[in-house]
Amino acid sequence: MKITIVGTGYVGLVTGACFSEVGHDVLCVDNNEQKIQMLRNNRMPIYEPGLEDVVARNVAAGRLHFSTSLIEGTDFAEVIFIAVGTPPGTTGEADLSYVEQVVREVAEHMDSYRLLVEKSTVPVNTAEQIKRTVLRYSRKDVAFDVASNPEFLREGTAIEDALKPDRVVVGVESERAAQLLKAIYEPIITRGGGVFVEMSIASAELTKHASNSFLAMKISYINAVSRICELAGADVEQVAHGMGLDRRIGRQFLKAGVGYGGSCFPKDVDAFVHLADHLGYDFDLLKDVRLINEAQRDHVMQKIRQELWVIQDKTIAILGLAFKPCTDDVREAASLYFVPRLREAGARLKLWDPVATDNFKKLFPELSYFTSIEECVREADLALILTEWSQVAELGAGRFRELMRCPVVVDGRNIFDPNEMRANGFAYHSVGRA
Ligand code: UGA
Repeated sequence: MKITIVGTGYVGLVTGACFSEVGHDVLCVDNNEQKIQMLRNNRMPIYEPGLEDVVARNVAAGRLHFSTSLIEGTDFAEVIFIAVGTPPGTTGEADLSYVEQVVREVAEHMDSYRLLVEKSTVPVNTAEQIKRTVLRYSRKDVAFDVASNPEFLREGTAIEDALKPDRVVVGVESERAAQLLKAIYEPIITRGGGVFVEMSIASAELTKHASNSFLAMKISYINAVSRICELAGADVEQVAHGMGLDRRIGRQFLKAGVGYGGSCFPKDVDAFVHLADHLGYDFDLLKDVRLINEAQRDHVMQKIRQELWVIQDKTIAILGLAFKPCTDDVREAASLYFVPRLREAGARLKLWDPVATDNFKKLFPELSYFTSIEECVREADLALILTEWSQVAELGAGRFRELMRCPVVVDGRNIFDPNEMRANGFAYHSVGRA
């Protein structure tokens, strides 16, 4: 089938590349010429494991194309996925101006039936606004449908998530739209498994909000438990293991640490609180999820202060700048909380990350970056672990001990075994392990 994807960010590019991988003919449109040029030269604008191969293979097979023209995109296919950004506005609500712009332009140029699919995370009832906009701006009396098809891709494993989904949720209100989306996903479900679920558009839109906020809530829950563990002399890793073996709870997203970051959870939790408020429900539970996440960072900062006494002139090695491993994304990463605060307190910072350094450098060009983790921790007074990159654990406690000026580690991701660290003479502070 022919498919147009508008927006070549994480969601649009991965979705488009994976649709072409299962045999569809895909045109990815973006108004950023530089990005389209890069993609045409098989250079990826983002770091996502496996993406480059999928793109190269399908461009070579003639199934994946790129364009800066939305008019071309509108002509190309009956089904148009909208995957443009929905950044947070000033009060936490999603800014939908990019979505509106795309819808308007498509409406002005479509001359036969089109199915517009919301792929970006948008507030519930956005489909209604899209419908109104199409009716207002379409020049001809052209039939159309709007559908919602939220994405559940995780950065770092997005290709696998797209090709082997747990579920594909589609919100539709016509049989025609349902059949088109079923045909698009049929090869993915056949190869990769997963359940294709049809529901109302509002329910599909809400499924996305409810899923992301639930996962954020799980993380804040275990982080709150981690604080109690510290006070009670228990170990949060053991508690999470004991909890997670109950299949109703599950082991995933019970990893205590320095809190969640990324382009999705912080923004989506805020948007859901805002949306609920707008609809007339005070979502106190989610407000607390947000507060617990913020408090977790303050708490780790407190551990650093307590351990160092005076931060001024101490050399601190920061291990991990990305918001999680296997991505170069630093949006809402813990590093963005700690770096300015430690600098302000007068620390000398040494920074290491295997892939996110370039993105971080754009924000803090004047800092010292290291490509070797060993060079980063050499002569440091304290090492602060913010991302659970495998290289950190692989370095091993003994090597840390040899390289550092003082054997002090604040581990925001509970990578090391506290007993082993103590046996190696470390002052070791982790999260939720008394
Ligand atoms: C998240 C969701 O997992 C995806 O399903 C969703 O499609 C995506 O947002 C989105 O809305 O686009 P992502 O932001 O890539 O995906 O990252 P996650 O793997 O969910 O991790 C988010 C944050 O939570 C990271 O900072 C991670 O370190 C933290 N986390 C995760 C924990 O602190 N503890 C855990 O147990 C799990």
